[in-house]
Amino acid sequence: MSIINDEQRQFYHQNGFLIVENFLSPDICQLLITTANTLVSDFDIGEHQTIFSTTKKLHELEQYFLESGNNISFFFEEGAFDQQGNLTTTKEKCINKIGHALHDLHPIFNAVSRTHKLAVLANDLGIEQPALIQSMYIFKQPFIGGEVTCHQDSTFLYTEPQPITGLWFALQDATIENGCLWAIPGGHHYPIKSRLKRNGWKTNLEVYDETPWDQTQLQPLPVKQGSLIVLHGQLPHMSYQNTSPNSRHAYTLHISDGRSSFATNNWIQRRATFPFQGFLF
Ligand code: FE2
Repeated sequence: MSIINDEQRQFYHQNGFLIVENFLSPDICQLLITTANTLVSDFDIGEHQTIFSTTKKLHELEQYFLESGNNISFFFEEGAFDQQGNLTTTKEKCINKIGHALHDLHPIFNAVSRTHKLAVLANDLGIEQPALIQSMYIFKQPFIGGEVTCHQDSTFLYTEPQPITGLWFALQDATIENGCLWAIPGGHHYPIKSRLKRNGWKTNLEVYDETPWDQTQLQPLPVKQGSLIVLHGQLPHMSYQNTSPNSRHAYTLHISDGRSSFATNNWIQRRATFPFQGFLF
């Protein structure tokens, strides 16, 4: 059994991305949307007010981010909080994403992230001994879902010799208006331009090539609900702000290849008692 054929595999190797339509059923998409919305409504911002305060405690926010590989954490749009850490609108309106261990810690996200179908796809893509490194639920809310500038995922999750593989699931239709992905086809042949390195509770972006991406080469990747976009770790991609009245929810997973070493100075590091795991059945 395989999920993608030789032609699709060849397309992926040439272009650095691949769209697989109808990968998730509408029911599963809706289940994830409902589950994420419940997580947000149950999230008590009061408990985290000092973290999100915009003034003096940037190190606390950095620590919250650096710890999030071990738990289910909530991240908000820029400008969502005032200086005291109070929300400027409802949390449902300005939630940006939830990450980064949903796939290990939440039973529904765990089940959807570890299907036989995904294990077969990973095998089809040539990933040996796959390990699930991180998961993100991205909201891209109407009108305020912010732009994600052009980047390569390997900047943030560096593995060698095999780069990380991203799986991007559209839980709602992703259109040009609501902020679909854009990518530079074939751009995965470029080396990484920078690497985010962790040093204790700090991070530093090490830049190797300051030349900006040629944005004229970007192509939009609008997809229907349930579609999966596979992204090579070195593929330059981005999404613009959502200027439409419709949300653009997506779920993402990043998978490493067991033949590669996962850099010990990547930002995401697990506690020794909570190792990265593959597809368990
Ligand atoms: Fe990305």
